[in-house]
Amino acid sequence: MANNILELKNISMHFGGLKAVDNVSFNINEGEILSLIGPNGAGKTTAFNVITGVYIPTLGEVYFKGQKLNDIKPYKITEMGIARTFQNIRLFGQLSALDNIIIAMHSRRKSNMIQSIFRTIKYKAEEKYCIEKADELLNYMDLLGDRNEQAQNLPYGKQRKLEIARAMATEADLLLLDEPAAGMNPQETEELMEIIKNIRKDLKKTIFLIEHDMKLVMGISDRIVVFDYGQLIAEGTPEEIKKNPRVIEAYLGKEVTNA
Ligand SMILES: Nc1ncnc2c1ncn2[C@@H]1O[C@H](COP(=O)(O)OP(=O)(O)OP(=O)(O)O)[C@@H](O)[C@H]1O
Ligand SMILES: [Mg+2]
Repeated sequence: MANNILELKNISMHFGGLKAVDNVSFNINEGEILSLIGPNGAGKTTAFNVITGVYIPTLGEVYFKGQKLNDIKPYKITEMGIARTFQNIRLFGQLSALDNIIIAMHSRRKSNMIQSIFRTIKYKAEEKYCIEKADELLNYMDLLGDRNEQAQNLPYGKQRKLEIARAMATEADLLLLDEPAAGMNPQETEELMEIIKNIRKDLKKTIFLIEHDMKLVMGISDRIVVFDYGQLIAEGTPEEIKKNPRVIEAYLGKEVTNA
């Protein structure tokens, strides 16, 4: 049987009377590309926020590699191996593409503050290693030519790719991507699809993706889970989800015929 990397057990996230996520259970297998789809306000980003420790769930448990995450702080969860991108891009706009990645490597760096102040040999060696690693990631994302550009000056599609590179810089095993294709043109979306497939294949990452672009979702997902009004209404392969009458009614409508 496939190995569970992440498990949500009866998760609810309530904001006052609003049940943003309502008694949801599902799991992600190691090495899988799983997509989470559903209408606006269905609770998708809230689920990411629960997994990454931004919110403590009202009810239920989240397990990552068998370890319960409920009371663990977001930075610790990153250290444990979960990284994410945001629906609204959150790069350091005035820093270069390279520096945005190097900052994300912080959780993996060993030198302490005193060493960095005096720029010891160990610190310098580590700095060199980080720059090399960051350049590798930029190259992987086809962003090496933009390494010294301020993030805010990059076109939108490149900013989205830089956010993914930054998430990868934490060396996480599980990447959560919140609408990575939002604002991309069809050609950029096509490229992104290839990149995501390669990240899984070459780097053995597990990918959990929220997306409204059905061509992308149907083209790359092993499985899909569907939320509507905070509830999980369907789970299955792209073929199963495309045909599911409840999903068609709640979300896909006629769009699916184009996917
Ligand atoms: N911190 C919060 N406080 C109060 N309500 C919230 C909070 N975060 C999310 N919500 C509400 O929870 C519901 C789910 O929001 P969420 O952002 O998870 O939806 P989504 O599925 O990601 O939608 P979209 O596709 O538009 O991004 C919405 O009604 C939203 O207004
Ligand atoms: Mg969202």
